[in-house]
Amino acid sequence: MEQQLRNLTEAMFEIKKICCIGAGYVGGPTCSVIAHMCPKIHITVVDVNQARIEAWNSNTLPIYEPGLKEVVELCRGKNLFFSTDIDKAIQESDLIFISVNTPTKAYGMGKGRAADLKHIESCARRIVAVSNGYKIVTEKSTVPVRAAESIRRIFQSNIKPDLNLQVLSNPEFLAEGTAVNDLKNPDRVLIGGDDTPEGQEAIQALCAVYEHWVPKNKIITTNTWSSELSKLVSNAFLAQRISSINSISALCEATGADIEDVACAVGMDHRIGSKFLKASVGFGGSCFQKDVLNLVYLCEALNLPEVAQYWQQVIDMNDYQRRRFASRIIDCLFNTATDKKIALLGFAFKKDTGDTRESSSIYISKYLLDEGANLHIFDPKVRKEQIICDLSHPSIFQDASGQASRLVTICNDAYEACDGAHAIVICTEWDEFKLLDYEVIHKNMLKPAFIFDGRRVLDELHPKLQKLGFQVETIGKKITVQRIPFTPTAEVPKFSLQEPPLKKVKL
Ligand code: NAD
Ligand code: UDX
Repeated sequence: MEQQLRNLTEAMFEIKKICCIGAGYVGGPTCSVIAHMCPKIHITVVDVNQARIEAWNSNTLPIYEPGLKEVVELCRGKNLFFSTDIDKAIQESDLIFISVNTPTKAYGMGKGRAADLKHIESCARRIVAVSNGYKIVTEKSTVPVRAAESIRRIFQSNIKPDLNLQVLSNPEFLAEGTAVNDLKNPDRVLIGGDDTPEGQEAIQALCAVYEHWVPKNKIITTNTWSSELSKLVSNAFLAQRISSINSISALCEATGADIEDVACAVGMDHRIGSKFLKASVGFGGSCFQKDVLNLVYLCEALNLPEVAQYWQQVIDMNDYQRRRFASRIIDCLFNTATDKKIALLGFAFKKDTGDTRESSSIYISKYLLDEGANLHIFDPKVRKEQIICDLSHPSIFQDASGQASRLVTICNDAYEACDGAHAIVICTEWDEFKLLDYEVIHKNMLKPAFIFDGRRVLDELHPKLQKLGFQVETIGKKITVQRIPFTPTAEVPKFSLQEPPLKKVKL
């Protein structure tokens, strides 16, 4: 059946073999859960990165995600396979997920804002080059609106007589750290396709895969463009909530209100809801910044400057929050961090992941390194090489030596990081940071000993910590020492991992 062209009078097309291009944070977990939920579907996840595929086939998976190893071990070698033989997997499949990375462009037109679709295009060209018969090609990566049109054009321009490729959009909404649960119990599954009989048939075939475990009323179908746009807008709304609460955290610090109380009171209105109202050092991760910037770029390209400016503000507020937090640390440390040992706890962009992409820890580190601080960093899941690599990026470490390792030490545990330190800076909300023996830590620190809690993880310990002698400074709570108030300059210096800054950032 799969090697023949589809004729709409035939019985509904059944997906028996799936190929997923891209074995990353989305492709790996998504296909592992589909394999687990659909034992009769044969799934091959492929990637150009051989080391990544080898890791998926080993006991040490390339990504840390709670519950993932168990799912992989249940299915791998039965109906779940990881391979670098991309062409073979494409040829044998009924459905192809494109789950490759779509980072912010780091060059040329749209640099620093537009999504780089070069990997999507290369997948489309490979698919049309090696395929025959009928296949459903599904965008799982997050893409700008109308990206599917480019894929269709590549297909149409290279079409062969024995080939029929249908294009769908099926964006992924999983969050890292909770991916397995998000995939098993999604709020919704969104599938967009052409409003033609062929398009609708392809949608139904993909719906049937999800119906193995997702209730029908949670599977929604739309046209392709609504599906693509809904993904960008979902992430933009989530990021906007964080920037909104973070903006109010600055007001709390200036007035004596407590952001946790305000978030609780505001979130109890069921029209607003309590989720995503946690003030922090700013949102990180590979998606929020990239997708909001993508939305901004799209609006600009469509001549909607007011809409673009509105969403740009979400990013600007996030940059401001990171800078504000770093500035507070330096103010409290008597306006200088030069040669001071600072323990930075948490480098991942959130707890329960080893992912550091766009982590606020990188930017807080940057500001402290600019001041000449000696950073001693500990994270339970991030590899030492990853931290050094992130901090050695030219947009982050601007010392002539280019060697971040000169001012950065990666520690094996939190006690080692805090030993002899002037201050502890908590950037990731790992639960284990609540369980540390702060009496021992305080004894071994220089005095006054500071804790800067950028995640409100130590709220319940505050009285105890203060009794031990710590000066505790937290996001969204009034500052406890006399300090020169931070005045943001009108001109906000911007930098990103993708775009080296033009000048050194001054706090
Ligand atoms: P990732 O970088 O972890 O993985 C992408 C993989 O694709 C890499 O291993 C890369 O080697 C591979 N790849 C790139 N081009 C290829 C090609 N031509 N052939 C074969 N393999 C190729 O990225 P990710 O975090 O999994 O994100 C993938 C997409 O999903 C992005 O568009 C992202 O925005 C979106 N998304 C991510 C998340 C998330 O939490 N990470 C959630 C929802 C959606
Ligand atoms: C996000 C979306 O949640 C998910 O639906 C999408 O598919 C991918 O992007 P992810 O980036 O993995 O997922 O994690 P998320 O839980 O959304 O957190 C993103 C960042 O926001 C993290 O740095 C997190 O610490 C921060 N955050 C989140 C806050 O600062 N406050 C909050 O209240 C929630």
